[in-house]
Parts: sequence; C-alpha cells; structure tokens
Amino acid sequence: MSGIEGRIAVVTGAASGIGVAVAELFAERGARVVGVDRSEAVRDAVAALPGTGHHAIVADLTAAGAADAVAAETAETAGGIDILVNSAGIVRLAPALELSDADWDATLAVNLTAAFRMARAAGRVMTAAGRGRVVTIASQAALIALDEHVAYGASKAAILGMTKVLAREWAPSGVTVNAISPTVVATPLGEQAWAGEKGEAMKALIPVGRFAQPREIAALIAYLADDDAAMITGENVVIDGGYSIV
Ligand SMILES: NC(=O)c1ccc[n+]([C@@H]2O[C@H](COP(=O)([O-])OP(=O)(O)OC[C@H]3O[C@@H](n4cnc5c(N)ncnc54)[C@H](O)[C@@H]3O)[C@@H](O)[C@H]2O)c1
Repeated sequence: MSGIEGRIAVVTGAASGIGVAVAELFAERGARVVGVDRSEAVRDAVAALPGTGHHAIVADLTAAGAADAVAAETAETAGGIDILVNSAGIVRLAPALELSDADWDATLAVNLTAAFRMARAAGRVMTAAGRGRVVTIASQAALIALDEHVAYGASKAAILGMTKVLAREWAPSGVTVNAISPTVVATPLGEQAWAGEKGEAMKALIPVGRFAQPREIAALIAYLADDDAAMITGENVVIDGGYSIV
C-alpha cells in the first residue's frame, strides 16, 4: 500500500504542467485529488484522472479569501486535507530596471502570497488532525541568479524562508513542510521563459543535457508527500540535472 493511498491532496495549478503531472501520479497511487486552478481547464484535467473521489475547484488564488474558501470546500467535499501541493505560479520576465510594479506585484501575489495563504488554510486543518504534508514548488531561481528573473527569483527565494518557519512551527503537530527547486521543466511556463536559442543555451549548462519532465518533478513531490518522508522537513530539494553543482 502506497503512503499516499486514500489521502486527500489539494493540488494548485492543476490545469497545466507540473500540477497536472502531480494530480495524475497522486491519483494513480490512490489519492483523492482536489485540483485547483484559475483556468476552467482544471475541470477536464480532474475529470480525466484515474480513480474516483476527485474534485475540481476553479479559483483565482490571489483573490481575497480564496485560499480559505478552497480549504473549506475541500473539507466539506472530501472530509479533510492530508496533502497540499502549491504548484500554481507565473513568470514575468524583464531586466530589473524595466520590470513594472504590476509585474512585480502579480508575481509575488501568485508565487508567494497565494502559496502562503493556501499553506496557512491547509495547515489549520492538518495541525488539528495531527498529520499533513505541504510541498511548494520553488525553483533553481531561488538559489542562483537568472537574467530577467528578479521578481520570480525573489518570490521563489521567499518560499524557502516561508517553508523553514512553517516546518518548525508545525513539526510537533506531525506536519512536514518542504520546497523543491527544479531546473527548467518542459511545461507551458518553462517554454515561456526558455524558448528557442535561449533554451538551447540553458540545456548546454545542465550536466544531464536536457530539461526535466513534469513526471520527474511529480515523483519527487509524491515522495515528500508520503508517510515515508516523515523525517524530512524544512528542506529545499534541488532537482536540476546537476545545474547548480559547484
Ligand atoms: N516549468 C518550469 O521550468 C519551472 C521550473 C521551476 C519551477 N517551476 C514552478 O512550478 C510551478 C508549476 O509551473 P508549471 O511549469 O507547471 O506552469 P504552468 O504555467 O504549466 O502551470 C501553472 C498553473 O498555475 C495556474 N495559476 C496561475 N496563477 C494562478 C492563480 N492566481 N490562481 C490559480 N491558479 C493559477 C495556471 O492557470 C496554470 O494552470 C510554478 O510555481 C513554477 O514557478 C516551473
């Protein structure tokens, strides 16, 4: 029996990319998935998952009260929250001198503030239940400088700080909180930031010589969400094909 079988897993960003891969892998392993996304496409993505008991919620997680509403709807329809995967995210690229206030604010609102609000809402349910798993997708951009990624990198570095504090506060309640930091992943977001020649140049810097596949990221998240990972908390697990080897 898998350590996530029967668990109730909220996956944000579940209409695309890594969120879809996580929802699929979790569903294959017997979890009940609550897929959340601002895109209506999350309904079809969740309907296509194997197994039963899944649920889709269309919500813009930057809206006031949205995270609490998602947690309440999940508790009502599924009966609890065992796992939260924060995958919803955006990237707005520009040289720092040219980045607009709107792009900075939008990036921080989705990548950091919404992830915190989801973690807080889920964390209330998890700490009361005495068990839980929170995994937030940061990025290699949390650790190293990437041109034009000032807002993105700041939002992802902040996730690491958030993760450590939540991990420490919730460890006595049986809740682990971790981040993962992928290199470029073959998704619409990865394509937006790394299309064409720029992408080929990046691949040449990754020792394994390619971008990550969403399924590879999902497999790491599934491990961190498993009962077996109870001793890992406050960690940032880098999954970058060796890009950040120094
Ligand atoms: N793809 C990469 O190269 C890469 C690398 C490192 C980290 N990441 C991170 O992984 C996560 C998933 O990225 P992806 O590549 O799957 O991207 P993606 O664009 O394929 O999917 C992101 C999903 O988040 C949803 N979303 C965005 N804003 C939202 C909001 N306000 N409310 C609800 N949903 C919202 C989008 O609708 C989309 O379905 C992101 O946090 C991203 O920063 C991606």
